[in-house]
Amino acid sequence: MCAAIICVATDLSGVRKMNDKEILVSTRGLSVHFPVKKESTFARRRYIHAVEGVSIDICKGEAFGLVGESGCGKSTLANATLGFVRPTSGEVFFDGAEIGSGKKAALKSARLKMQKIFQNPAASLDPRYSVFKAVSEPLRIRGGYTAKELENEVSAVLERVGLTVSDMSRGVTEFSGGQQQRIAIARALIVKPEYLVCDEPVSALDVSVHAQILDLLVSLQEQLGITYLFISHDLAAVRKLCGTIAIMYLGQIVEYGSAERIFLSPAHPYTRALISAVLSLDGARERIVLKGDAASPIDLPSGCAFAPRCQCAHEKCKSTECRLTRIADDHFCACPYI
Ligand SMILES: Nc1ncnc2c1ncn2[C@@H]1O[C@H](COP(=O)(O)OP(=O)(O)OP(=O)(O)O)[C@@H](O)[C@H]1O
Ligand SMILES: [Mg+2]
Repeated sequence: MCAAIICVATDLSGVRKMNDKEILVSTRGLSVHFPVKKESTFARRRYIHAVEGVSIDICKGEAFGLVGESGCGKSTLANATLGFVRPTSGEVFFDGAEIGSGKKAALKSARLKMQKIFQNPAASLDPRYSVFKAVSEPLRIRGGYTAKELENEVSAVLERVGLTVSDMSRGVTEFSGGQQQRIAIARALIVKPEYLVCDEPVSALDVSVHAQILDLLVSLQEQLGITYLFISHDLAAVRKLCGTIAIMYLGQIVEYGSAERIFLSPAHPYTRALISAVLSLDGARERIVLKGDAASPIDLPSGCAFAPRCQCAHEKCKSTECRLTRIADDHFCACPYI
């Protein structure tokens, strides 16, 4: 893994590097706040703190897993790295260029190298389209392809995702959920992206096709060396695909490091609870059950955001801000009391 949250070297050519690996995507102190509708004209404006001071590095060719409860800010963080959401503060870099501050040229050139696949393939595909029309659309929008070239590109990418040339003329609604996700993956791959955000790509699918789609994503990464940001609630899926993991809680990264290390010795009490839920299934570990709900992202508690639910919380946790600190070569944790 290429983990480095705190210091990133920038060489003379502007390429950000860490441990000799090039970094494709990074954020520095990234915060994204959404305004809440005011209840009255005189009420104080309040904000949802969807992402709060996040600094991550995603190296070229790695699969980076992002895990956390619903509403903790995973999709917002991913969307900010794609330039879909403007940061409230902080920076977003893609291949060395800052894309978060609204510089259109930098964002436009980065966008050519980025794609996203969504949770629900049916919703991401136009039901009126044939497979050919759906998959070829990104190339048709870019322009410059003859009909024959489009056909060749579509048939090559369909083969890559386990579909056939004869599927090209069928309507997208004629396929099962798993096959529709393959079509959505083909549509993303046709522009040969360097960076692919997979936002819960299997959670809307039947359990029986989870493994097939995950295997497909693993083999595509091996063949094409694409950089993934893989978002999931499913730690088993993250473990299968990702070399690096970040655990997110209420907009902040609470633990970050090599997947191997985090699964072997999770440090943050929140990570321990998440991992115990997976390992307790095969009896390897006793399950830690979290009590209560996460605090509101509108009124973030002072001190550690996880303290109100933490089994190991000290009095000081309620007032001490927890910062990510290196606890091993490839392991960072935001809890000072581990
Ligand atoms: N466009 C928006 N406008 C206002 N609030 C938003 C917007 N997008 C997200 N939010 C809020 O920001 C917080 C984080 O949302 P986000 O979708 O990033 O969470 P998530 O971790 O991806 O959740 P899930 O696992 O359910 O997809 C939530 O409280 C959500 O309601
Ligand atoms: Mg989401």
